[in-house]
Amino acid sequence: MQIKHWDKDHSADSLLVLLREEDCKNLAPFDGDLGAVLADLVSRKDFNGKKGSLLRVPLVEGCLYLCGLGKKEKCSLSVIRDALFQGLRKIGKSRGKIADVKISHLSEYDGLSFALGEAGGLCAYSFDSYKTKGKDYEPFSLAEIYSDVCGDEVSAGIRFAEAQIFSREIANEPGCAVCPSTMAEKAESLAKEYGLTCEIWDEKRLIAEKMGALLAVGSGSKNPPRLIHLTYKPKNTPSKKIAFVGKGITFDSGGLNIKPDNYMLTMKGDKTGACNVLGIMKGVAELGLSVEVHGFMSCAENMPSGSSYRPDDIITARNGKTIEINNTDAEGRLVLADALCVASELKPDVIIDMATLTGACAVALGKYRAGLFTNDDGLAGKILAASECRGEPFWRMPLEDEHIAESLKSPFADLVNAGNRYGGATFAALFLKEFVSDGIAWAHMDIAGVDFCEKEYGVYSKGATSFGVRTCLEYLMRL
Ligand code: BES
Ligand code: MN
Ligand code: ZN
Repeated sequence: MQIKHWDKDHSADSLLVLLREEDCKNLAPFDGDLGAVLADLVSRKDFNGKKGSLLRVPLVEGCLYLCGLGKKEKCSLSVIRDALFQGLRKIGKSRGKIADVKISHLSEYDGLSFALGEAGGLCAYSFDSYKTKGKDYEPFSLAEIYSDVCGDEVSAGIRFAEAQIFSREIANEPGCAVCPSTMAEKAESLAKEYGLTCEIWDEKRLIAEKMGALLAVGSGSKNPPRLIHLTYKPKNTPSKKIAFVGKGITFDSGGLNIKPDNYMLTMKGDKTGACNVLGIMKGVAELGLSVEVHGFMSCAENMPSGSSYRPDDIITARNGKTIEINNTDAEGRLVLADALCVASELKPDVIIDMATLTGACAVALGKYRAGLFTNDDGLAGKILAASECRGEPFWRMPLEDEHIAESLKSPFADLVNAGNRYGGATFAALFLKEFVSDGIAWAHMDIAGVDFCEKEYGVYSKGATSFGVRTCLEYLMRL
């Protein structure tokens, strides 16, 4: 997508205008033909700026698109970003090729250019690579955007969008197309493109490295597990060392504790944490940030078979802690456990893990807000500020809970891997904490539920949302 500053010499077939309810009552900033058309539409009550409204008005030449931003007091950069996405997406699906975007009347909101870059970069994306492109296929036609606000931040916005698309594109792939070794190949090619270091531990190396938890989860599948480690080092001396750890279950059948049919559907999405880590690494490299960033992806396929790990098994994780398996479907915390040990050994300033970890988190917070668990209040503040700015809602969840902590104990081993139905998201977070070395600021993002959407909303087309990538990139940019 080309995004440029509005000039006198270009022609456009579409015009997108974003309006708050108050703007509809005071159309003074809009003069000439546009002002007249708007006044007419408003007086006939065709458009009043209501949030989420989208009106398409064919003109003598081209087409006018109006997006409502709602009431001024509730309008924010995120509302604007979503409206830009929805408007531009509509244009591209309605055969518009070149769009003018009018947003200069919204200049009181910081970061307009960034939002334009992000929405412009994301609007064309759909997961449609498996659709036969027959005569009914309508390609997305929008290729150029001209805006009356187009600052330097546009390119950072585009980079954020590309990082998200990179994550979504892999997350959307089904289990028959992406297994742990495919994830490794994707990481290797990303490393080649951007000059990152990439280390991959195959099943032999995983045994040598005592990755007993990751190996147990992967043991039921003919597609063996992989631990992937990407490293980005800035040109100058890095200010901080940050490690990301992503859950990469390329398909979660539940294993021998097999999931019922309707719970198993969508479990191709159980690798989203790892896909997000790939997206973050791409973003970091593209933006040339001055932080040292490590991206770990702990990948396995959780399948039932004669070689699967079993309920009652006792396994040993990399740090020597023993785990009694009481549910093979609580596999995400196991693959993360070993990876968190490896990440801790690097002694980073901060570890952030991301995982579609618990149905309990999705039940608690819904499909539009992710759970944040952390042992560090300062880190919580930074992550929540980044998430607020980039429009990915998180909610801080409790990590301290002596009763739930008590239920982690096993009669025969150091830990059990699953508790009862109650407080399932906190149980899982407390389990992970056992594998993070003392003294490291650590945050765990439970993105179960928010990782996929069934229908388009916000800046998300149907399918994987890459939820978390924007927050993490923004967090890194602010360091
Ligand atoms: N991948 C699932 C969690 C999940 C559920 C993600 C729904 C997205 C949507 C995870 O591996 C899992 O199966 N968790 C179990 C844990 C239980 C067995 C303790 C769960 O949440 O039911
Ligand atoms: Mn599971
Ligand atoms: Zn899972």
